[in-house]
Amino acid sequence: MTRDDGRTAAALVRSRKDLPFRLGLVLGSGLGGLADAVEDAAVLPYETLPGMPVSRVSSHRGAVVAGRLEGVPVVVLAGRAHYYESGDAAVMRDAIGMLKALGCEGVVLTNAAGSLREDLPPATPMLVTDHIALSGRNPLIGEETDARFVGLSAAYDAGWRSGLAGAAAAEGEPLGEGVYMWFSGPSFETPAEIRMARLLGADAVGMSTVPEVILARFFGLKVAAVSILTNYGAGMRVGELSHDETKEVAPRGAAKLERILRRFLRDRFAAPSA
Ligand code: 6GU
Repeated sequence: MTRDDGRTAAALVRSRKDLPFRLGLVLGSGLGGLADAVEDAAVLPYETLPGMPVSRVSSHRGAVVAGRLEGVPVVVLAGRAHYYESGDAAVMRDAIGMLKALGCEGVVLTNAAGSLREDLPPATPMLVTDHIALSGRNPLIGEETDARFVGLSAAYDAGWRSGLAGAAAAEGEPLGEGVYMWFSGPSFETPAEIRMARLLGADAVGMSTVPEVILARFFGLKVAAVSILTNYGAGMRVGELSHDETKEVAPRGAAKLERILRRFLRDRFAAPSA
């Protein structure tokens, strides 16, 4: 079977906005505001593009926004779909493949996540250095070629990580670093699961991103990921977790992330002025 892997969607995006795209940006819960920062933007609702992940999560909007950020041609995926919405871990396959088909070098994935670290309070951005996935799900299950045996020894690009860390330092924005552990959701974890995750070496827990990292590496894209920590994991504070809290806190972190990303784009991608 020949898959489309986002090629048709890429052609449609290019027919509206033909730029030498450098990188993709996937916006997580409550982070959609970053799409408004794109200049000279073509906005293509997911419904108008084949294979795009039409999400029904209340804080996700669902459009490809192609244009420039800090002068750098970017493709923003404003809104993602999650494994828990359909049970399909490959739900982002065409969307990530589209970035490759558009010529992007890599993708910056963002998400809202729970903090397992007392020193990383809500609204702090955390650079993902590595991940743990124990759900048994993988977006490449069913893939039939040897390309499915994707190496993840260095999944989170070292150069982009240091670029983002340097950008945060230059902006005076605290940027944590740590391991993201993927839980399927949509329920939050139990306190016992959070204690387990901490014992296993996780610094944050979330319901997305890991399948996208695997797909991006499959397509040969560089990857960076940043979590906006919106709350502590279950049992670390009194009171119940809620998606409302995620939606409320994420935009505060998004403002910090926007400053970091803009600096990263200027320092790493902007054409040197003559
Ligand atoms: Cl505590 N857990 C998960 N899995 N995802 C989250 C979260 C927690 N907080 C925000 N997103």
